[in-house]
Amino acid sequence: MTPIQVAVSKGEETKFQGDVAVVFVYQDKNKKIILPSTGKTYLKRVNKLGDFEAKSGQLHLAYSQENRELKKYNAARICFVGCGQVQTKNNEIETAENYRDLGGKIAQKAKSIKAKSLAVFADTIEASAKETGTQALAEGILLGSYVFNKYKKPDLDNKETLLKKLTFYAKDSFSIIKKGVLRGENSAISVADARDMANEPGNLWTPAQFAQYAQDVAKETGIECTVFDKKKLQSMKMGGILAVNAGSQDPPKLIVLDYVPEKYTQTIMFVGKGLTFDSGGVSLKPAAGMQDMKYDMCGGAAVLASMRAIAKEKPAVRVVGIVPSTDNMMSGAATKPGDIITHYNGLTSEVINTDAEGRLILADALAYGNKHYQPDCIIDLATLTGAVIIALGHHHTGLFSNNDKLSEMLAKAGDESGEPLWRLPLGKEYSKQLDSDVADIKNVGGREGGSITAACYLEKFVDDTPWAHMDIAGTAWDFTKKSYIPKGPSGNSVRTLVEFVRNWKKTKF
Ligand code: BES
Ligand code: ZN
Ligand code: ZN
Repeated sequence: MTPIQVAVSKGEETKFQGDVAVVFVYQDKNKKIILPSTGKTYLKRVNKLGDFEAKSGQLHLAYSQENRELKKYNAARICFVGCGQVQTKNNEIETAENYRDLGGKIAQKAKSIKAKSLAVFADTIEASAKETGTQALAEGILLGSYVFNKYKKPDLDNKETLLKKLTFYAKDSFSIIKKGVLRGENSAISVADARDMANEPGNLWTPAQFAQYAQDVAKETGIECTVFDKKKLQSMKMGGILAVNAGSQDPPKLIVLDYVPEKYTQTIMFVGKGLTFDSGGVSLKPAAGMQDMKYDMCGGAAVLASMRAIAKEKPAVRVVGIVPSTDNMMSGAATKPGDIITHYNGLTSEVINTDAEGRLILADALAYGNKHYQPDCIIDLATLTGAVIIALGHHHTGLFSNNDKLSEMLAKAGDESGEPLWRLPLGKEYSKQLDSDVADIKNVGGREGGSITAACYLEKFVDDTPWAHMDIAGTAWDFTKKSYIPKGPSGNSVRTLVEFVRNWKKTKF
């Protein structure tokens, strides 16, 4: 999507000449409105009429030039935004989600009046929420403004009437507000990138496009990008990626982005499933809904997009992002049920179902990444199983881990980002379901505990390295309905990964 220009200004609020300016309004502990200095008498009257009580999420639009008290503002409209009661307890997670939701609602309002420029009078944000609140608010406004109109006729998508400029006015706490806004903006750009990649159709978003995005990120941020092509993957004996790609017209890629700070002691590794279209292969999927399988690359998109945001923030930890990418198609050359393949680490696998392909490409990438970079922890993301949607619906990402501490750190980053995770177990009883009569393992373990056995498959490729697997099949699209989450791909987990790195301190697992 076309970027929205974001600024933080110490300037005079009244001088803002754009379409709409936002003023936050709170309630006291008796749920009575606290009248703000902007439009005090006017709001008193509106409140008396019962039209605006400053309840959380309530919006009231006033036309400045038609209003004696608001006339001094050059903004065409003032949007009063109710925030509910001033926070007394310091619940950062709840506060952040509240502001993200308000941001989404503001964006929806801006869309409905075709606003091109929006200002937030940030001095009206409650003191306790200045930093987290502003970051979340910026995220909410930017994520709520997201549209994907690349393939629509210009007269249908109204390209000219989308939000172009967002300015935060702040006199008090300028530097705190600025920090929050910049963080929110940085994550939101990456979320939009991840949504854009997912919205692209399978015929136009192939492994080569994924590689191009990674190369663009490398160029923009100065980090290292390596792309392994089919020949290289053959010489490296990446049997899983090659088996899934066997029926395809488009060659596979293994894409690596490597952020290396000047000084570091620890390395985090992300691995994302970049399956650009999953037909199921010879174990063909049913036709209904198959078009959604262009989203089977959302894990890969989340990894590459979050690498962009992370590289921009220059943390003191090395971060490696790896994406194995191919589609899963059938042809005379395609992998068949019963075929035996050999993974990068030498483990052989009997392919029972060619539709359980995500684990095959991730297995090679995990084994390679673990051996080559010896990371302190590995997090993989994948739209791996339909079964996780049966277990958790669309409201939690499935979390699986061989390490409690890593699991807690990741769940915390998810909660802080409004992208909750729910941990499910692993264990040798589940792992045993993958025993094969003819190979070291097989690629499906039956219907029972399908998401867990999929995770067990991956676990065999990380040795003892602290590792967590996020099954985002239920959250990568059709995620919980929220004001800042559009229909279609959500960009889920980008903000969680970015937050995970922001929270990073030297860790002994
Ligand atoms: N990409 C799918 C998982 C999926 C299904 C994601 C629906 C989102 C929505 C994956 O490759 C797959 O097909 N998994 C199979 C595994 C089975 C054959 C063991 C599944 O979930 O049915
Ligand atoms: Zn599949
Ligand atoms: Zn798949």
